[in-house]
Amino acid sequence: MKSYITTPIYYVNGSPHIGHAFTSVMADILKRNRQALGCDVMLSTGVDEHGQKNQEAAAELGMGYQEFLDMRGKEFRSVFDLVGISYDYFVRTSREGHKQAVAGMEQTIFDKDLIVKKNYTGTYCKGCEEFKKESDLTEDGQCPLHPTMQVEQTEETNYFLKMEPFRERLLQHIADNPDFVQPEAFRNELKQMLAEPLEDLCISRPKSRVTLGVDLPFDPDFVTYVWFDALTNYLTNIDWPEDGYQSWWAECEHLIGKDILKPHGVYWPIMLMAAGLPLPKKLSVHSHWVGAGGVKMSKSIGNVVDPIEVVEKLGVDALRWYLARHMRADSDSQISVELITQTYNSELGNKIGNLLSRVAKFSNKNFGGKVPAPGPLSAEDEALRKSVVEAASGFSRWIDLQDIPARTQAIVTLAEEMNEYIDKQAPWTLFKSEDTRERCQTVIYVTLDCLRVIMEALQQVIPGSADKALAMLNAPAAPRPWTPVLDRLEGNGDLGEIESLFPRVQ
Ligand code: MSP
Repeated sequence: MKSYITTPIYYVNGSPHIGHAFTSVMADILKRNRQALGCDVMLSTGVDEHGQKNQEAAAELGMGYQEFLDMRGKEFRSVFDLVGISYDYFVRTSREGHKQAVAGMEQTIFDKDLIVKKNYTGTYCKGCEEFKKESDLTEDGQCPLHPTMQVEQTEETNYFLKMEPFRERLLQHIADNPDFVQPEAFRNELKQMLAEPLEDLCISRPKSRVTLGVDLPFDPDFVTYVWFDALTNYLTNIDWPEDGYQSWWAECEHLIGKDILKPHGVYWPIMLMAAGLPLPKKLSVHSHWVGAGGVKMSKSIGNVVDPIEVVEKLGVDALRWYLARHMRADSDSQISVELITQTYNSELGNKIGNLLSRVAKFSNKNFGGKVPAPGPLSAEDEALRKSVVEAASGFSRWIDLQDIPARTQAIVTLAEEMNEYIDKQAPWTLFKSEDTRERCQTVIYVTLDCLRVIMEALQQVIPGSADKALAMLNAPAAPRPWTPVLDRLEGNGDLGEIESLFPRVQ
């Protein structure tokens, strides 16, 4: 079975921020989950290098395009490497093969008489890189997504893709495939966008305004609209139009933020229909991160969360964990360095890391650095083991974007149960008497073996720390395809070197 997961490709007009890191980390979690289930996975992420915004950003820095794009490309790549994204393909839309394929797609659609040339007067938002209708703007005439960027009045001759002939078909596709857009709130939002007749989509920009882009194959005075160019990455990454892309394309899932639902839910499917290509399998949509107190992040308020700063201060898994655990499906979620620190200390440190180091150190001291061999299991042991298998099996099932917070929450609830178990069983007291020594061994074995199962599950979310913990437990390689199997720690087997997994940070 195959799975092709894509993230948006990010504009390079600024440095990578937490929103970029978020979608790519979620894609990475999904990839690790599906690989654990035995799936063949391809993950693409990368940068969107064309368009007016990027062009102006290069000019502001006084840099040539190539030099600017190379610099930003490296910057994005190094942040994705830093946060542990196991991408298979890093997209750069300036790649020659991509540009040729974009032009090929345009020519195909042009040859079907679905592209028309006409004069257009309208309001343009540079932030969105698109023309806006009056009803798209705020009361004072600005773009609601980019209130600080003034919209501009533009009169231009351009090429337009006919959209309306495809609207009914797209609505039908959404009705026939309830899974096409997830979660439901965004499916409804998309249906709303398709409720009225669609205007033609402007797919070109005159070179007098924008030069950083793909030349229109049928008119050298124009470059391709940056969204037409960028969306096509999802096909060019898997070598479309060369043969062989089909099996990946049939299993393609796009992860996107809610602000880019329209390009992915309206423009892209219609481009594909116009070119005679099948639609992707799924659009998984997420909400946004905002600062503490629900305030939008901005440099002037000083509440911007910089992924590099978080990793330097707390480590990569503190960041990955927070992003996985605390994005709400239905509304924007809050993030700040303080919130990440609190979650790291309380969930990873106090509930999971401390338990492991307490029990492993106890074994080191009292059982000569070995995993004690268990005796007969009590009802309480069995109950805990059942909970472990239940919570961990959330990771031996297919995970979709919107499942991630609940599946990780289940591990936290389980860790709480394990802490209660160990406090109640009190192995340190059991150890004191010969009569209860075997019971002590059993409690420690059960705890260590349950922690091993949890860490195998967490390899999908915080792989660096999970691998470290599994090395401390000297655990055998996890089964593939992965399922939570108990009793894989060897009784009387050696433990590895014990170190603090999530050292406390003030
Ligand atoms: N280049 C286009 C995408 C083209 S995909 C064919 C673009 N780039 S972007 O850099 O502006 O944004 C990319 C993604 O970052 C979007 O999914 C957007 O939702 C996400 N985020 C930007 N800010 C965000 C938050 N504060 N929180 C979560 N995600 C956010 O649009």
